[in-house]
Amino acid sequence: MSGAGPGQTARVSSSGSSKSPKSSKSSESSPSLVDRGLQLARSTWDAARGHPFLSAGLALASLAVVLFGLYIGLEPVFTLFILGIVTVLSVVTFQWWTRRHPTVQRSRRAAGRVAFASVALATAASMFLIQIVPYGRTHSNPPVTGEPTWANDTTRQLVVDGCYACHSNQVTYPWYSNVAPFSWAVQHHVDEGRESVNFSEFATNPGNADESVEVIEEGEMPPGYYTRFGLHSEAKFTPEQIDELIAGLRATPGLSEGR
Ligand code: HEC
Repeated sequence: MSGAGPGQTARVSSSGSSKSPKSSKSSESSPSLVDRGLQLARSTWDAARGHPFLSAGLALASLAVVLFGLYIGLEPVFTLFILGIVTVLSVVTFQWWTRRHPTVQRSRRAAGRVAFASVALATAASMFLIQIVPYGRTHSNPPVTGEPTWANDTTRQLVVDGCYACHSNQVTYPWYSNVAPFSWAVQHHVDEGRESVNFSEFATNPGNADESVEVIEEGEMPPGYYTRFGLHSEAKFTPEQIDELIAGLRATPGLSEGR
């Protein structure tokens, strides 16, 4: 690992770029950081392209990460972030491995094994590494300042079961919301959800609450990812419960557009 630095940089100077004068005096540190980022991206790309097995392994891992992200409702920017870490770690691991064991490069099968093992190891390591990101661990629940005047207790209970996980200040954070990337997904849903509708602050800020009936009728809420594969079964309403919920929301001021 330690000997990797000098060998790489020596080979970069290909076409007279050394002669280019330091023209712009603007800022010294930020362009070099961008340059370094671009260089890393380029060498990662070159390394992946030069090794079909590595590309195949990376493609598989990327597919898995993307599907997983869709499954838990992860924002694309978070998925991209994870993909970036997995890719860079995979390439670094693969290069380190083949440099330490040069014989690997002479056998296609060995190279293939090492490539897939590198990607697998890098993916596992990435899952540990991303735990460093603190985003999503605050688990905030600001004070409740004024709920809607619910039509009845059943209506409130159905909304609590189906909507409070994202649209209230009484969020019950599941255990996995301590583990990235679930923590990121949950935090983001709660942030976005509260911003749009917060039943706990309805009195002062009704937001889009008057669209509640509409989004349920259209099957948009609760979001598909929330109840997929038996998750949050209390929010997976039967047709009767949906009818009851909609009737209750209509009878509650401010939660339907008079329809
Ligand atoms: C897993 C989180 C989650 C759950 C559970 C959830 N929502 Fe949402 N909701 C969101 C997010 C995120 C948004 C904002 C982004 C969007 O429109 O998709 C939103 C938006 C809304 C909006 C605004 C829609 C618009 O077009 O502006 C309404 C109304 C709404 N939700 C009602 C509900 C109701 C009613 C329930 C319960 C039956 C519910 N939601 C359950 C996450 C959730």
